[in-house]
Amino acid sequence: MRVAEGSQRNEQPPNAKIVNTNRQLVLHSRPTGLLAPGDLQLAEAPLPSLTDGQALARVKYLSIDPTMRIWMARVSYLPAVAIGEVMRAFGFAEVVESRHKDFKKGDKVVGLTGLQNYCVIDAADKHGMFQKVPPIPFLSDTAFLGVLGINGLTAYFGMMDIAKPQKGETLLVSAAAGATGSIAGQIGKIHGCRVVGIAGGPEKCKWITEGLGFDAAVDYKSPDWKEKLAAATPKGIDINFENVGGEIMHAVFERMNLHGRVVLCGLISGYTKGDPALASLEMVLVKRLRVEGFIVIDYMDRTMEAATQLGKWKMFGKLKDRETIVEGLEKAPDAINMLFTGGNIGKLIVKV
Ligand SMILES: NC(=O)c1ccc[n+]([C@@H]2O[C@H](COP(=O)([O-])OP(=O)(O)OC[C@H]3O[C@@H](n4cnc5c(N)ncnc54)[C@H](OP(=O)(O)O)[C@@H]3O)[C@@H](O)[C@H]2O)c1
Repeated sequence: MRVAEGSQRNEQPPNAKIVNTNRQLVLHSRPTGLLAPGDLQLAEAPLPSLTDGQALARVKYLSIDPTMRIWMARVSYLPAVAIGEVMRAFGFAEVVESRHKDFKKGDKVVGLTGLQNYCVIDAADKHGMFQKVPPIPFLSDTAFLGVLGINGLTAYFGMMDIAKPQKGETLLVSAAAGATGSIAGQIGKIHGCRVVGIAGGPEKCKWITEGLGFDAAVDYKSPDWKEKLAAATPKGIDINFENVGGEIMHAVFERMNLHGRVVLCGLISGYTKGDPALASLEMVLVKRLRVEGFIVIDYMDRTMEAATQLGKWKMFGKLKDRETIVEGLEKAPDAINMLFTGGNIGKLIVKV
């Protein structure tokens, strides 16, 4: 595993020859708690022969996202992955063969590639969400999975469409050293907010304050974290970009100002427990909070708007990112678990 500071490295793995088999991670059993060995099993399938309207792409990088744990367990905003099906995942891939009018050999794409070496882009399948990636010299391939990918888009739409940050407001971000939280917090700084992050451990807290310019960090693993949260938010909290849920969300709600806004982005503390990790709604009532949930895939038609703005901020040094890269498709199950044990800083990616 390696941790990389920023995604501007122009990493170009050598072009590999097409092989005849496709290694895939298939859902074998639905996990309870963290993934157990065998919940996802390695399988080999022959490479499909293409029909008209299809393209074959070689997967280079896989985006490891908390929502994968939900997809493995139950129906949510997408159907659950079926037992025996290739595990759903976003990925970055390069087209190696094409009979699809919109994709040609050599095109780089992001979309729902699945946890496998090769994927088929099918004109008849509108759910793959494949989009071509423009060649931008200062960005690496992996940036299109993180800072300009799902996480950047999530942070952008959550902050710009829902939070609408105003200068001088206090923004509280949970899972603040993760892929989404780290970008949401920086968008708050760009808009003149006082930004406080909650993260697990001193290394993450140091990165978001010294590396990203957050005004304060609260290590929720320290015994007195609730007092530290109060000290870090002397004027209360106006906006909560919520990624965690449960006890953390409840403590944040208690610090919210009247009529505060809650961007309900994720509830990761509940994903391995099977409960939604909610906090008491009493504080929503007492503080007259406006709570709005959102799912980034609803904003896919505005990808260009978000990617252009995020790209500009990154180019001008206003947005920094970091990646944790795990090597090998077979390591993807361990990588998924890392999200729930806090093993990643910034965007978690598997290099296939
Ligand atoms: N609404 C949407 O469309 C959308 C899209 C993408 C992501 N999300 C949500 O955004 C959140 C972050 O996702 P991400 O992809 O950016 O992952 P991430 O933040 O890069 O990684 C997850 C982090 O969550 C923290 N965490 C895990 N379990 C926790 C717990 N029980 N209590 C406190 N912190 C915990 C860990 O950091 P620590 O070491 O700090 O604990 C871990 O590193 C998730 O809830 C995800 O579901 C929502």
